[in-house]
Amino acid sequence: MTLIAPSILAANFANLGDEIALVEKAGADWIHVDVMDGTFVPNITIGAPVVKALRQSTRMFLDVHLMIVNPENHLSDFIEAGANLLTIHMEAYRLAPDKKFLQHQVQTHGERYFWGNEVQEDWEARGTSAEDYDLDKLFACIEIVKEKNIAIGISINPATPVACLEKVLGKVDLVLLMSVNPGFGGQKFRPVVLEKIDQLVAMAKRQNRTIGLDFAQNELAIEIDGGVNIGEIADNLRAKGANVLVAGSAIYQAKDIVGTIKLLRGEK
Ligand code: DX5
Ligand code: ZN
Repeated sequence: MTLIAPSILAANFANLGDEIALVEKAGADWIHVDVMDGTFVPNITIGAPVVKALRQSTRMFLDVHLMIVNPENHLSDFIEAGANLLTIHMEAYRLAPDKKFLQHQVQTHGERYFWGNEVQEDWEARGTSAEDYDLDKLFACIEIVKEKNIAIGISINPATPVACLEKVLGKVDLVLLMSVNPGFGGQKFRPVVLEKIDQLVAMAKRQNRTIGLDFAQNELAIEIDGGVNIGEIADNLRAKGANVLVAGSAIYQAKDIVGTIKLLRGEK
């Protein structure tokens, strides 16, 4: 089974209630809410008060994607607002980069460097060790969410290797693999995510985790976000084992939203 999660980043923000009702009627499963803080990524979008308002206008599952630094400072706000799933970014727990790495980043990306706009070469400049992360802090964050019986997800950017999730996988309900650098809707899908699904499925197998959507049974969901569209992209993602597909522009710009959601899900 594949769940379809329209990203309201592509919706009309002046009419969010109606925009959600529209995709719910069209057969969507979850609502994907992109929270951006202007520090983890360049954009600022929406915060907990908006999630609270959405909660009052829909019963749909709210899948909240936190593209923010220090998520631990905001988790309780989003939990109280009524989120059903909170996904935090692995990169938010990167240990402070060393001076050499920062110099490399400024040369590559200019003065305004964000975790979200890294490219593979940045990783090569720094290395890809799991020791680069403050896992204690990350685990504490995961616990805050679990204690409240809310689902918890971990996300990685296109340039972040799946290997970094080795110690985290056993503690989360969902892995969100980004197929674009976070920060904006409407970007081009990066096929590198396809290999990463294979790596993730293999890791789950080694750790005896079943891929599925039943969090109560400790199943692990695999969600893909960024540039997802009907046709080859969605078909390949499902075939590899992704079971939650986020789509912003593909759904909100479609003439036939019902048909688009069906095709994303692999139905005729
Ligand atoms: C990107 C966001 C995505 C985005 C997807 O930073 O996390 O959820 O809204 O939009 P599309 O499907 O248009 O790439
Ligand atoms: Zn997202």
